[in-house]
Amino acid sequence: MPKMDDLRDKYIDLISAAGDEAALEELRVQAVGKKGEISLQMRSLGKMSPEERQVMGPKLNALKDEINAALAAKKAALADAALNERLKAEWLDVTLPGRTRRQGTIHPVSQVWEECTAIFADMGFAVAEGPQVEEDWYNFDALNIPGHHPARAEMDTFYMHRAEGDERPPHVLRTHTSPVQIRSLQAHGAPIRIVAPGRVYRADYDQTHTPMFHQIEGLAIDKDISMANLKWVLEEFFSAYFGTSVKTRFRASHFPFTEPSAEVDIQCQWKDGSVVVGEGDDWLEVLGSGMVHPKVLEAGGIDPNEWQGFAFGMGIDRIAMLKYGIPDLRAFFDSDLRWLRNYGFASLDVPTIRGGLSR
Ligand code: PHE
Repeated sequence: MPKMDDLRDKYIDLISAAGDEAALEELRVQAVGKKGEISLQMRSLGKMSPEERQVMGPKLNALKDEINAALAAKKAALADAALNERLKAEWLDVTLPGRTRRQGTIHPVSQVWEECTAIFADMGFAVAEGPQVEEDWYNFDALNIPGHHPARAEMDTFYMHRAEGDERPPHVLRTHTSPVQIRSLQAHGAPIRIVAPGRVYRADYDQTHTPMFHQIEGLAIDKDISMANLKWVLEEFFSAYFGTSVKTRFRASHFPFTEPSAEVDIQCQWKDGSVVVGEGDDWLEVLGSGMVHPKVLEAGGIDPNEWQGFAFGMGIDRIAMLKYGIPDLRAFFDSDLRWLRNYGFASLDVPTIRGGLSR
């Protein structure tokens, strides 16, 4: 029979070295299970003399208790360690602030596009559209700009590629929204009152020009529309758009597709890197306009002896610069949210066409 102290030392060591609950359970069976080493010794008490039994009995009981207590303590220690491991792995600081999401904002050009359309809609103008890749005829010829006309060169046109051997005139990226005048007249005839906002393209790049920009075309044709109506509509538009009356300047000008023609400038001032409307002695050209040329009416399929009216083409980006004090047009197309915030674009704060009009 192994000596009791050896037995004790062996199990106490094994228990303290046990790595997990399964190993501990094995030790328990081995020591104090039914056929465990200590249990077997207790069973052998019956074969001892009463004197021996009196000494060995309490000793064995004490040993069994000690082993059981060591097993229980180790079990608790293992459970603690496991819990600590888990807490470390699953650690979560519920007091941290939540992740904020960056909020998108409408682009100033989109906002102004919608504002313009809404104001003209109030004056009875419907919205029309045309393609951005346009036939040469709609962009030029129909607007009284024949092949040799200098306006073709002046407009810095982007020409589309033609397959080799294809002798037709190349399509162009429309240089203005005026081709929509022709398309609308062809589709609807007269009388007509439309605006056509959209993208236009010219090979030009500086502080007030970008190769892609936006225009809104206006066209009003009826029996007796005059230059006076044009002036009223535009002045009405500007005071609605800027929310106050601003000084405008109508300058005699020339376009092949209007006669007479006028360009309109808005009074403004460049001040501390931004542009302010309604003061100062600078003028920013914002649109071209005039009475629609008889040849244009003819190209649109209506009789110039019966119908007359005005047209205008306004730079959406230009009037966006003026309203929001943005000095460089290029900033519209290579900037981000921080830049927009700088100019006060937090979110859409005007009624949108898509969301329904509430004016
Ligand atoms: N299409 C002209 C431009 O882009 C503007 C314009 C439109 C002028 C309509 C007169 C009438 O400059």
